[in-house]
Formats: sequence, C-alpha cells, structure tokens
Amino acid sequence: MKEPGWHNAPVPTLGPTSARLLIVGLAPGLRGANRTGRPFTGDWAGDLLYETLADCGFTRGSYDENGDDDLELIDTCITNAVRCVPPQNKPTPAEIKICRTFLDQTIAAMPRLKAIVALGRISHDSVSRALGEGPARLPFAHGREFALPLIGGGVTLFDSYHCSRYNTNTGVLTPQMFRAVFSRVRDLLDGVSASPATAEPQ
Ligand code: URA
Repeated sequence: MKEPGWHNAPVPTLGPTSARLLIVGLAPGLRGANRTGRPFTGDWAGDLLYETLADCGFTRGSYDENGDDDLELIDTCITNAVRCVPPQNKPTPAEIKICRTFLDQTIAAMPRLKAIVALGRISHDSVSRALGEGPARLPFAHGREFALPLIGGGVTLFDSYHCSRYNTNTGVLTPQMFRAVFSRVRDLLDGVSASPATAEPQ
C-alpha cells in the first residue's frame, strides 16, 4: 500500500439519518476522501461543496481539508454513488451497481428525506435507479428538479454538474450555478413553493 497512513477503505456516509437532505457525489477522491475517510474532505470538490453548504445554512463550524475541524452538517447527509476510490478515478458499471446496495440502504435509513442532490450524471443515474425510476424516465440536466413519490412522502431530486476541479476550470460549473442549486434546496426545505423548472418524471 502506497500511503498506509491514509483511510484507503470504503468511505462511510456523513451526517445524521434524521436529515431531510442527501447529497450524492461520485466516488472518493484519491487524495481527498480516500485519504481523510470523510466524503469530499481534502480536495477541490470539497472546498467548493463545503463553502456552498455553509453559505446556504447546511453546515455549522469550520471545515478543514484534513477533517481536523468542528464541522457539523445541519439536516444533511453526504454520500457517494461509489464508496471506494476507483482505478483511474473512473468507476466501472460493475462498481456502480454493487455500490447501489449501499445507496439503497442509505436512502431507506432516512425516514425524513425530502431532497436529494445528485452531483453529476453517474450519481444521478444511480440515484434514479435506487428510487425505482431509471435514467430513461429521469434524464440528467443541471438545475433540473424531479418531484418523485417515495415511501413516506415525496422526495425532490435536484441535479447539478459535479463540483470537480475539471468542471469549474472549464466553466461547465461556476460557483454561482452550484450555489443556485443549493438555494433551491434551501427554499424547498424552508417551505417556499417550487419553481416552474420542476419536472414530473417522463
Ligand atoms: N470526494 C467525494 O467524496 N466524492 C466526490 O464525488 C468527489 C470528491
């Protein structure tokens, strides 16, 4: 093993199961979550995610890239579609399928769940399968919202481009676009009515 001091293992979901919001990333970053053992902790994607969550009232305390902090998620859980760092940073269909068992369990363990933010298409596809829908009925699009029936009440699936360094460096995703998605989630959870962009499954 190259870095025996690192976590180097499946990265567990972060946050309380009583949360109403679940954020689903792609997979642990090699030098980020795979090092620290906490989702999105220690890489660029995490810097942007945790800053945005703080701005929208989903965290308290401070975030440190080594996880050596007093960060607390408020009403929020964070997980990944794939739980281990994938070879070449690209999860295989088999890995995604196997890890969906954990995603199913994570969703089932959240009785108050109202909103899921899927970061990127792979995460979106895995979440939509976990919700018994499937990507053909729920095509991914940044900023799109899907109101879905689910056991125990309705859940809205929010799509965002992944907050990776690649996406922000190429301008695919700006911090403002990312923040707008979480502002919508904030509004939904605070009881502000849905925007016209809300779509029913096709
Ligand atoms: N870190 C994670 O935990 N997930 C991602 O998708 C990216 C970085």
